[in-house]
Amino acid sequence: MDLAQGGLFAVSASSNTSFFEPIMHPFSSLLLLGTLAFNAVTGRPNSLLSERAVVKRDVDSFLATEVPYALNQVKCNIASGCNAGGVGSGLVIASPSKSDPDYFYHWTRDAALVFKAVVDRFVDSYDADLQTLIQNCMKNQVLSLLLPLPQCQSLLNDDFCASDITSQARLQTVSNPSGNFYDGSGLGEPKFNADGSQFTGSWGRPQRDGPPLRALTMITYSKWLVNNGYQSTAKDLVWPVIQNDLAYTAQYWNQTGFDLWEEVQGSSFFTIAASHRALVEGSNLAKTLGTSCSYCDSIAPQVLCFQQSFWSSSGNYALANINVNNGRSGKDTNVFVSTNQGFDPSLGCDATSFQPCSDRALASHKVVVDSFRSIYSINSDIGKGQAIAVGRYPEDTYYNGNPWYLHTLGAAEQLYNALYVWKSQGSITVTSTSLPFFQDLSSSVSTGTYASDTATYKTIYDAVMAYADGFVNNVAKYVGANGALAEQYDRNNGNPLSARDLTWSYASVLTVAARRAGVIPLGWAETNVAATSVPGSCYATSAIGAYSAAPTNPFPASQTPGSGQPTVPTSTRTTSPPPRPLPATVKIVGNIPALGNWDTNKAVALSASGYTSNNPVWSVSITFAAGQSMQYKYIVVNTDGSVTWEADPNHAYTVPTGCATQTTKSDSWQ
Ligand code: NOJ
Ligand code: NOJ
Repeated sequence: MDLAQGGLFAVSASSNTSFFEPIMHPFSSLLLLGTLAFNAVTGRPNSLLSERAVVKRDVDSFLATEVPYALNQVKCNIASGCNAGGVGSGLVIASPSKSDPDYFYHWTRDAALVFKAVVDRFVDSYDADLQTLIQNCMKNQVLSLLLPLPQCQSLLNDDFCASDITSQARLQTVSNPSGNFYDGSGLGEPKFNADGSQFTGSWGRPQRDGPPLRALTMITYSKWLVNNGYQSTAKDLVWPVIQNDLAYTAQYWNQTGFDLWEEVQGSSFFTIAASHRALVEGSNLAKTLGTSCSYCDSIAPQVLCFQQSFWSSSGNYALANINVNNGRSGKDTNVFVSTNQGFDPSLGCDATSFQPCSDRALASHKVVVDSFRSIYSINSDIGKGQAIAVGRYPEDTYYNGNPWYLHTLGAAEQLYNALYVWKSQGSITVTSTSLPFFQDLSSSVSTGTYASDTATYKTIYDAVMAYADGFVNNVAKYVGANGALAEQYDRNNGNPLSARDLTWSYASVLTVAARRAGVIPLGWAETNVAATSVPGSCYATSAIGAYSAAPTNPFPASQTPGSGQPTVPTSTRTTSPPPRPLPATVKIVGNIPALGNWDTNKAVALSASGYTSNNPVWSVSITFAAGQSMQYKYIVVNTDGSVTWEADPNHAYTVPTGCATQTTKSDSWQ
């Protein structure tokens, strides 16, 4: 029983309470070099529709000037950029705006998504300047994990901190408002001051999308390193940072937190989708690097399982948040960000992983877009199936609730992604779920699969392309002076609103333009079945991650495309036995009703909430009558539902009859 390796199980039972805790050890197994997917750049057929040609020309000319402008503005908002005076090395401000609203902060989510767009662009086309920005960012990710160190309160002190951070013991003792590094909780901190110091104001925290998103970005850069012969850089410098974020994801995915809009405490579709992708892709990268991520393998299927429960079959869309009752419809562009981040053309139109062309994602597209049709006056003259300005969610009141540039562009991006897949697979399938989406664009369409040489395919394809271009055109219509993109534009007159020059808005220009041109980021699923295969039953399991300070050595110079040598000989990349599922939940079962009468289905689950690396304990509090005697054992309920028992003999305990109202019984796994 692997749990026994260093695992301490303290059972605290008493006249009213008991506690239990295990440690998860990653197993090392499965060394297999995955084949990284490269996607060819493909063109699109020109539409014959003249109306479409006009829109297309508008969009072409808008993007021709907007893309270089957006790239420049992204760079401006990254440390040492034109808007980023006083910004710590490798950090990125959400916007240069310092009041109404003050966005002069580094948000983990914004930074990860912005850098993902930058890394994707870099992977597609080598650019030494971008590489410097990316590597500073990666190095900073190491530092931001270590931020609580008093000396490193400011990343302006980067070099000093990088060389000084060696003592993990010190790290483990310092906390940020979300928690600490030592048990991973501090990785859920959403936002840092621009110089890299802790932001201690009250905020919606933790936000659990940060670690998986940051992992995805670093994984993509690692793949580039590997593909170009710099495997050791990926393994030695980037993987240790990724591992901490994956550990966080595997440990905390099933706990509620604040959503990406920093408002709702619950379970967010976006966070769950990002967590799933990170664990699958993290596992794949681990294999490529000749190691493994066993908690990625054990937890990813459960995350995907949970993700399915956001689907509202009555509403025909994916709910933004569950495990919360906030009176909202759940219609939210969270689904656009989710599907675009999770895009992998090798998965076709798979609905479980919510691919952009899946029936569920298209159905959600319609429902969410429609929710903004009547509420924004700038949309009022625009009919069904025509592109409009899109916000976060219809009930939004932030700045009175307005369209956001990045969401209108996100609506387009999903459709370009869908078009890419239809074109590569040579057909479009319309199901009863996606029928309402398609009927808005072509009223006579019915369910079925239409091959690319049919008239129906061509009609749908052109209509979706025109629809997608219409969203970009909406942004072109309401863009600020010289191409400036704020966060929002006014629902009544289309004027730019809220934070000016939002970095994320510009990043969304880069991604939408790339997808429209058929430039697709590296896929994440590879051959990993956990990408799309949903287990028969869902278990709310979690792993206990190990967190350790990553090395902060500088990146080697001159890592230019293809000139490096693979550092791991191919012959060592062999397959070993598949990973065993990790222990999932620890429970206690015994010979009295309160302990399930030895029925494992009635066993009492322990919580890992008090777990720390120093004191790896699962615990539970149970009330018994004074003087009650019992026999019991601990069991581990594995992720596949199977049960592992402790060895004999049974533990025995009699609740004291003295005055104590609470006592603790501690045991170790045997
Ligand atoms: C700031 C957050 O960033 C934004 O998402 C939210 O809507 C407002 N606070 C209001 O809660
Ligand atoms: C508000 C948005 O809701 C949130 O997602 C974002 O992180 C912050 N603004 C900063 O851009």
